[in-house]
Amino acid sequence: MAATSIEKFITGIPKAELHLHIEGTFEPELMFEIAKRNNKKIKYNSVEEVREAYKFNNLQEFLDIYYAGAGVLLEERDFYDLTYAYLKKVHSQNLKHTEVFFDPQTHTDRGILFGTVITGIHKALEDGRTHLGISYKLIMSFLRHLSEEEAFNTLEQAMPYKDWITAVGLDSSEVGHPPSKFQRVYKKAAELGFHTVAHAGEEGPSEYIWEALRLLNVVRIDHGNRCLEDEQLVSELANRQIPLTLCPLSNLELKVISNLSDYPLRKMMGKGLLLTINSDDPAYFGGYVNENFLRLAEVLDLSKKDVCDLAKNSFRASFLDEKTKIRLIESVEEYYRNN
Ligand code: HPA
Ligand code: ZN
Repeated sequence: MAATSIEKFITGIPKAELHLHIEGTFEPELMFEIAKRNNKKIKYNSVEEVREAYKFNNLQEFLDIYYAGAGVLLEERDFYDLTYAYLKKVHSQNLKHTEVFFDPQTHTDRGILFGTVITGIHKALEDGRTHLGISYKLIMSFLRHLSEEEAFNTLEQAMPYKDWITAVGLDSSEVGHPPSKFQRVYKKAAELGFHTVAHAGEEGPSEYIWEALRLLNVVRIDHGNRCLEDEQLVSELANRQIPLTLCPLSNLELKVISNLSDYPLRKMMGKGLLLTINSDDPAYFGGYVNENFLRLAEVLDLSKKDVCDLAKNSFRASFLDEKTKIRLIESVEEYYRNN
């Protein structure tokens, strides 16, 4: 029997995704469809024109377009369709579990009710679990360019839906908005029983990663690339096995790195960090989870063993219960033995 190619191996391996913004899965085709039924104008004339506009020099240039795109989402059905389209896509990529960020303030600031947003997303996630066999956790992200008071307000609005939300996160424009700005709201969220994660060290300095660990008590760092600038921080992350949710194609498209071949994955692996591969905003960055694995595998010459370790990490670093983690990790090992 011929050995499975790395592409086929990546496609078939069971895996989880832990860093995915649901608003970042909004494909232009669906954007036009939803804009039409909601009588909302898009400033582009075609799907091709939209894709042409997806050229970014930094995080902020992307965020401006990402928030504008989300502006056509009005009804519960829109949030449902957005979420279910993502689940169908990753079902074809053998994704078994997903931990999805949503940005309530992107919508509530436009007058959409918190309940409309979360109900649409939640229903789709439930249907995905039933019909596609993808388990999930939902993470509510605070927009860090807004105030802590507004984050508190969002936390308040989330209370009727508390059981649907596993963790809180922190995203949007990083530089100038350090984790320390959100120390009190994270304390409150932890008291309420939410897990905590935060984007840190994507564009912001390594100090922001320290702050996320020490002041926000996060259990996972989203991105975290810039930890490499501080040896002591790398040791802390490695010793405590704090997962980093890396997003290679996002880093490439937002110029966090200039070439994928410069991606410091091997360096990070060599330091004993717990690493996972994720898509961040796949509709904007040219690839879902499998494309992130595949493009990295091509340029870094990843072995099946490397891919297997990363897939196992994706379950290990998740918010799944221990028994489920063990079962899924065993399924990865079995796949590795047979392929
Ligand atoms: N960084 C910060 N905020 C975001 C991102 C990101 O990569 N994607 C969506 N919101
Ligand atoms: Zn992100």
